[in-house]
Amino acid sequence: MEKILDIKNLDKSFGGIHAVNNVSFAVNKGEILGLIGPNGSGKSTCVNLISGVYKPDSGEILYNEKDIVGMTVPDRANIGIGRTFQSPKPFSNLTVFESVLTIALLHNSMAKAKVKANEILELTELNNVAEIKSGKLPIEKRKWLDLARILAINPQVIMMDEVMAGLNPSEMEESIKLVKKVNKQGITVVFIEHVMTAVIKLCNRVIVLNEGTVLSQGNAKEVMKEEAVIKAYLGGGYKDA
Ligand SMILES: Nc1ncnc2c1ncn2[C@@H]1O[C@H](COP(=O)(O)OP(=O)(O)O)[C@@H](O)[C@H]1O
Ligand SMILES: [Mg+2]
Repeated sequence: MEKILDIKNLDKSFGGIHAVNNVSFAVNKGEILGLIGPNGSGKSTCVNLISGVYKPDSGEILYNEKDIVGMTVPDRANIGIGRTFQSPKPFSNLTVFESVLTIALLHNSMAKAKVKANEILELTELNNVAEIKSGKLPIEKRKWLDLARILAINPQVIMMDEVMAGLNPSEMEESIKLVKKVNKQGITVVFIEHVMTAVIKLCNRVIVLNEGTVLSQGNAKEVMKEEAVIKAYLGGGYKDA
């Protein structure tokens, strides 16, 4: 199996908090990998380390076999590493179309960027709200817009940080379909989530983090039956939706 990301012995502390403690895992090209664990287990810190927001204290991050630890956030985005935010902050004054176009213009001429932006809005089913100001979008659409903007960087991998949080069951079903659609475009997905029903539907393989370490990994359904995983989730206030 070809690895798109290979994380080796990653470590990050904030003062006395060991947020990510000697974490190793790989992401295979083309898969939807679940990165799960209770609140505070280090999921978002991993995303921030891989996307370049934080520098690790030690460890390696290989992307297509190349160590990217020294690279900036924009450089990592340029080579195809995308991420969404747990709480997206859209450019409120731009329309949905303009928000996506702005990113597409970083990589394309105006004519091409317009075509690209329209394709992305169609894929993410935001074409009917294209002319609405981004700040006026309801929360679930805001998350899709965040995803649409990431698609405009031509990502090879997207780390989706709790994109299902706060959605009702029918919005969640729509979002699951969208994640599958994105994956079908050949984009590898790291799906960070608290809502287990969504993880089971999307991911064959999961990595379970707990208190900054890898507690378990493997088949999603199997891993969720493990006593240590159940215990960690109960301790972390896990609630299924
Ligand atoms: N920038 C930061 N400064 C200080 N502590 C942080 C920072 N980011 C994360 N942490 C701490 O690191 C731990 C892991 O957090 P996080 O990665 O956000 O967990 P998760 O996304 O799994 O809920 C938590 O204890 C959190 O408070
Ligand atoms: Mg988080």
